[in-house]
Amino acid sequence: HEHIISAKQLSRADIEEVLDHAAEIAADPEAYADRHAGKLLGLLFFEPSTRTKMSFTAAIKRLGGDIVDMGPVEYSSVKKGESLADTVRVVEGYADALVMRHPSEGSAQMASEFVDVPLLNGGDGAGQHPTQTLLDLYTIRENAGLDDLTIGIMGDLKYGRTVHSLAHALTNFDVHQHFISPESLQLPRSVRYDLHEEGATIREHTALEEVLSSLDVLYVTRIQEERFPDENEYREVAGEYQIDAGTLEAASDDLTVMHPLPRVDEIDHDVDDTEYATFFEQAHNGVPVRMALLDLLLEGQ
Ligand code: CP
Repeated sequence: HEHIISAKQLSRADIEEVLDHAAEIAADPEAYADRHAGKLLGLLFFEPSTRTKMSFTAAIKRLGGDIVDMGPVEYSSVKKGESLADTVRVVEGYADALVMRHPSEGSAQMASEFVDVPLLNGGDGAGQHPTQTLLDLYTIRENAGLDDLTIGIMGDLKYGRTVHSLAHALTNFDVHQHFISPESLQLPRSVRYDLHEEGATIREHTALEEVLSSLDVLYVTRIQEERFPDENEYREVAGEYQIDAGTLEAASDDLTVMHPLPRVDEIDHDVDDTEYATFFEQAHNGVPVRMALLDLLLEGQ
């Protein structure tokens, strides 16, 4: 069975297969209503989530299936000291596929080695978030197209797993990537190395004004407070890189502003009513995209 652990494993053909299928589903969701009747998706969330957990739940239910949810960690046997390996080995017997979110980078890969049902990484620490990337790519394709694209990715590039996944996936397309962050939150060396290996054209900046007018897409991210080893380091960068409707006066009229959400203060609410705002549409795209992915993974089981 295929596990979805990292955007690095997805070829352009894989991505297009999921996005094309998501578009078919979005056009006629009723046609898929009984497609996976009786199938169960196991949810293992060791960290908080609204979008990933709820859109996967909506996706399997809209395919006719249902969830089995471990629930909050403090009410699970993880609290009694059960290991991740034992937990996933048990839960795979209750479900046809698993979605797991965990604070440790590499945990999804490790867990997948213990199970035969497909395991989907719903975010592993500062590592990867490949299903978020698929809905991000779907949203970019719908709004700006995926080739001959100039994107600015701004905020916490060090700890942001949505950034690490998206940047890698974009190397499959003709994309100029600009990364905008405080110096202390630049891309990790390993991610920069991987992007260079893939032949990506990337530029790094500390000021949005340097590139804003050239962008087709601005992808804003939250400073990941929960990943900072030292709260003082967080305080030094908290509140930097905020945009509001005034900031965007210097942008192209066609700019698409995205954010994986949740936001704290990095996009002012006055952006929400502008033509640029695409982040709620982006979150809603999680349902057809995750339906498409689940449909392809569960097909033939
Ligand atoms: N974008 C995202 O992963 O949101 P949640 O943390 O709410 O799942």
